[in-house]
Amino acid sequence: MQIRVPDQPYASIEAEALVTYVVDKDPKLEGVAGEIDRAMGGKLTSLAESGEITGKALEMVLIHFPQGLAAERLLLVGAGKPGKFAQSDLRKIAGAALRHLKSRGVKNFAFLAREGERSPEAAQAVVEGLIAADFESDKYRSEKKNRAIQSASLAGFDDGLSGNLDDAIERGRIVAESQNFARDLINEPSNRLTPRMLAEKAEQMALESGLGIEVLDEQRIVELKMGALIGVAQGSVEPPRVIVVRYIPETAAAGGPILGLVGKAVTFDTGGISIKPANNMEKMKYDMGGGATMLGAMRALAYLKPKIPVIAVIPATENMPGARAQKPGDVQVAMSGKTIEVINTDAEGRLILAEGITYAKQLGCTHLVDAATLTGAIEVALSNVNVGAFGTPREYLDRFLASASAVGEKMWPMPIDDEYEEMIKSNIADIRNTGSGKGGGAITAAWFLKEFAEDTPWVHLDIAATCWLDDGRPWLAKGPTGVAIRSIIDFALKL
Ligand code: BES
Ligand code: ZN
Ligand code: ZN
Repeated sequence: MQIRVPDQPYASIEAEALVTYVVDKDPKLEGVAGEIDRAMGGKLTSLAESGEITGKALEMVLIHFPQGLAAERLLLVGAGKPGKFAQSDLRKIAGAALRHLKSRGVKNFAFLAREGERSPEAAQAVVEGLIAADFESDKYRSEKKNRAIQSASLAGFDDGLSGNLDDAIERGRIVAESQNFARDLINEPSNRLTPRMLAEKAEQMALESGLGIEVLDEQRIVELKMGALIGVAQGSVEPPRVIVVRYIPETAAAGGPILGLVGKAVTFDTGGISIKPANNMEKMKYDMGGGATMLGAMRALAYLKPKIPVIAVIPATENMPGARAQKPGDVQVAMSGKTIEVINTDAEGRLILAEGITYAKQLGCTHLVDAATLTGAIEVALSNVNVGAFGTPREYLDRFLASASAVGEKMWPMPIDDEYEEMIKSNIADIRNTGSGKGGGAITAAWFLKEFAEDTPWVHLDIAATCWLDDGRPWLAKGPTGVAIRSIIDFALKL
């Protein structure tokens, strides 16, 4: 999809559709909607009066052959209550408009911003929304739907200082294409994306974007004594990998912060000996979503160039019940020296992340963010609406949450009180890999990770319920979402 900035006024843009948006209970149809209404001889006012245009969030009203406009159609998108509207909602509005038009065979359209939402930042949000909305999961379909948006124009935006608008469009494209890059990886079935193949894809991405990369093989993993990762991997014939991707700016100050991004990449989670039920097991191909998130974020950061070094550490393995698989009750020694009693082999994500976190610290990371499809319990707590965000110290978590809110990703702070630590005490080892006692499964999982992050500022994102959507949203296809990538990018740029 091409993104253009037209040089004529919106009324004379000859697109298949012109898109703009109206807030709820906006009887006067102010701003551009008011202008269009007047050009149409009050048609919109009468549609608002009859209740067809209400401005309710993501309501779509499509008008053909609008009088006074060169476009063939006018699409009015509801923007919801004016008090609730934020600039980040432009992503959803633009994305929902694109999907609405695409499903009707429209190939090009113009998106018209209202006054007040014409900054380069607003344009970036629109571009992100459009490109993420255009993603489809049709790689393995023989017959592709021949519906495609060829071009979208951004109308009405101010350039600020000259060139700002072009830069903003470019940034939006990089962010959303990186999100889509991660979504493509998440979609891959496990026979087409083993830990070795994931490492190859990471190498290719690093080469294309000018990032450093190093892939640790099983021999190196043994040398480093990553016992908790080896324990998970030993049930599979596919060898594990640890993928290390580096962004090191030349200007980085010695002794300054280094951000470590640790992502869980279980390319298939059967549960191991504590095997999962057959129902829905096919979905466990997306258990590498945390790793894909970090690769997507690194891809974007390679172009957006934060001031600080960023290192991604991605432990990758299958979790299989092979003849050599670890068994409930086994004790593994992690690279940090901590001993772990494996109560349930299906709680494998925290085992491999423990090694990723320790290794990231060993590489010099002073600040950590991890992302993982870690627990079913996070769905019980937050459903598929919010990412569960844990972290210490609280100010560090709050800085991360501020980034999430700035880029329109819903995340909710989860508790990590000392009382929960009791629940991961083992009878025979330093810690156990599941919580004893009832409930709090997402929290005890986070506590397990904290035992390895120790005093390093750390954020943990449990994306188990938000990384994949069974039902699409008006602005996003069903399947992989690429959630958390935008927040991580924003956070790295501001740290
Ligand atoms: N990969 C799963 C978590 C998951 C569940 C991701 C559903 C996406 C959708 C994880 O490895 C797991 O199996 N966790 C267990 C932990 C339990 C055994 C303590 C869980 O959540 O049931
Ligand atoms: Zn599991
Ligand atoms: Zn898992």
